[in-house]
Amino acid sequence: MVRIAATSDLHFDLSRALTAPERVAGIVEAMRGSEADAIVVAGDIGHPFANFSGCLDAFSGVEVPVGVVAGNHDVWRDEDFDSRSLWERALPQAAAERGLRWLESEPLIVGHVGIVGTMAWYDYSAADPSLVVPDNYYAAIKSRISNDAHWIDWSWSDIEMARMLRDRLADQLDLLDRNPAVDRVVVATHVPLFEEQLLRNPDNFAWSVANAYFGNLETGRVVSAFPKVRVVISGHLHTTRTAVVHRRRNPDIQALVIGSDYGEPAWVQVDL
Ligand SMILES: [Fe+2]
Ligand SMILES: [Fe+2]
Repeated sequence: MVRIAATSDLHFDLSRALTAPERVAGIVEAMRGSEADAIVVAGDIGHPFANFSGCLDAFSGVEVPVGVVAGNHDVWRDEDFDSRSLWERALPQAAAERGLRWLESEPLIVGHVGIVGTMAWYDYSAADPSLVVPDNYYAAIKSRISNDAHWIDWSWSDIEMARMLRDRLADQLDLLDRNPAVDRVVVATHVPLFEEQLLRNPDNFAWSVANAYFGNLETGRVVSAFPKVRVVISGHLHTTRTAVVHRRRNPDIQALVIGSDYGEPAWVQVDL
């Protein structure tokens, strides 16, 4: 058996307005006490960069491998870095300096289990399907719904970022699929990938629109085509979800969302 402990949306904050450092330390201790074989941190770690690196410090002494992916808040610009510099250099480097695995670049393999990860990015495919909107609608109104529009200054569109991350994830999954030493795969993402992970509220227009920025179902379709995938662990929603994605020809996928909220970090344990 391989045990994985996962957390997300820690929103570590030295100023204590979001999640205080000792709350994060408590979560790290709890995960350590679970005798997990690996730990996963699924994004929204801390902003600005001092909070991101401060949060990773809490994981740097952990005895088991720790895999890290970024979340949308982690790529918000700050006084020292623009979003692209954070994404391409500062964040992966901060993880590497602390001996943590930047899953976006390389999976972890623990026993016969492969752990892949990506921030994933919303591509509006999770918007309520009953909404009929003009082309470009979700990009055009994003600044009214999501603070990402104000704090992320890279030049990629949401669709471009979503596709780039999806394709990289597919390449990693493909490699694990062909690796005979791996028989099961866990996928960690910040942004949820499956309808079963989302919360629908079709009578609420604002909610239905906001879901455009809360998931990427297209990436979910790609992930579910890989037979070894057994578990998908996501964050971003700040709500606990426990679901099963049924597949016709392959085993079911356990699809979780970790329900951390500001000041209230949470974690889950998965045994495979
Ligand atoms: Fe978050
Ligand atoms: Fe998020």
